[in-house]
Amino acid sequence: MIDWDDFHEDDSAVAEQPQPAPAPQPAAQPAPEAPAAEVRDSAGAYQAAEQDRLTRARASLDELDVAAGLEELEMGAARIEVDDKQMINARADLNQLVPFKYEWAWQKYLDGSANHWMPQEVNMNADIALWKSADGLTDDERRIVERSLGYFSTADSLVANNLVLALYRLITNPECRQYLLRQAFEEAIHTHAYQYCVESLAMDEGEVFNMYREIPSVAAKSAWSLKHTQSLARPDFHTGTPETDQELLRNLVAFYCVTEGIFFYCGFSQILSMGRRNKMTGVAEQFQYILRDESMHLNFGVDMINQIKIENPHLWTPEFQDECTQMILEGTELEIAYARDSMPRGVLGMNAAIMEEYLHFICNRRLAQIGLKEQFPGAQNPFPWMSEIIDLRKEKNFFETRVTEYQVGGALSWD
Ligand SMILES: [Fe+2]
Ligand SMILES: [Fe+2]
Repeated sequence: MIDWDDFHEDDSAVAEQPQPAPAPQPAAQPAPEAPAAEVRDSAGAYQAAEQDRLTRARASLDELDVAAGLEELEMGAARIEVDDKQMINARADLNQLVPFKYEWAWQKYLDGSANHWMPQEVNMNADIALWKSADGLTDDERRIVERSLGYFSTADSLVANNLVLALYRLITNPECRQYLLRQAFEEAIHTHAYQYCVESLAMDEGEVFNMYREIPSVAAKSAWSLKHTQSLARPDFHTGTPETDQELLRNLVAFYCVTEGIFFYCGFSQILSMGRRNKMTGVAEQFQYILRDESMHLNFGVDMINQIKIENPHLWTPEFQDECTQMILEGTELEIAYARDSMPRGVLGMNAAIMEEYLHFICNRRLAQIGLKEQFPGAQNPFPWMSEIIDLRKEKNFFETRVTEYQVGGALSWD
């Protein structure tokens, strides 16, 4: 409970603090006193300059163009209609959130905000003890923790940079922008969470944060994502032609379907499997909260892609569909290579072959979500417990239950 008296006490405590003694002044020649007329003149000049600044400020406001920044709109023009608020290339005033055109975007913003969490809320003591003990984890288990933190500590920065520096200005729908702002903050929390794990475990920070340049299976995934943000991040990139609109769609597929939709899944399932075996439960709890957020990011990205397709059917050509399918297959191959590198032997009830089957299942899901043909017919999910966490068919229920669990402040239980 806040007690205002505490604030008064604090104020008086500050007021009563002893003032530092003035630094001894070097024995200098006494400054000659300015003649009285000179003092008067400088005060007058100061007042004149102040008046001049105020005059300039008022003159600048007189010249303010109040229609600037309102794109094509003129003052007094008709109010914004919902239909003006397209996903891309909208010509309407971008500063108006309502009326909503896409309720799903606003709802995801509300759901994401309701799931707010911070890394320091997770107790890391058991993880620290286990990580420090000589026989707490096998070498293969340690390798998984190191690889995961190495990849993710950079990957979420790549996603955040893509959102803020490339994507945001090109998505012209205000409620989608509102969600992008929420997502950008969540990516900052995720990067914070990985840094918090690395710091708690006293890992070699230089080694972890440079893994995306030094470990080939990690570097390949990061390089693939970076390749797909470069053209959009150029200041002179604009949508509005079929070619540039398709380039934007490529970016959405690369980041939402592949980076967040495939590249996260080997590491997530490995760490969550560790948590289910009662090992590194703090790291696993952080990953579980992150996975809950990422599931929402993925679904938001899928909704954006499908909405852009609806509004711009000419972009979704057979050739372009083929290209997007290939991108998702490339991402799947890179994630399978990462699985082999991070699991040279069977560990935690998994191995690279089982992970490959899981990734084929995930690949099929990503393709189907944006209306493309599945490439691995019949692939099964060998980790049904992952679906309990990110239930692909019951996302709404998943969030409702998890929000309640989080809000009562308890750690999520491991089945
Ligand atoms: Fe993230
Ligand atoms: Fe994300």
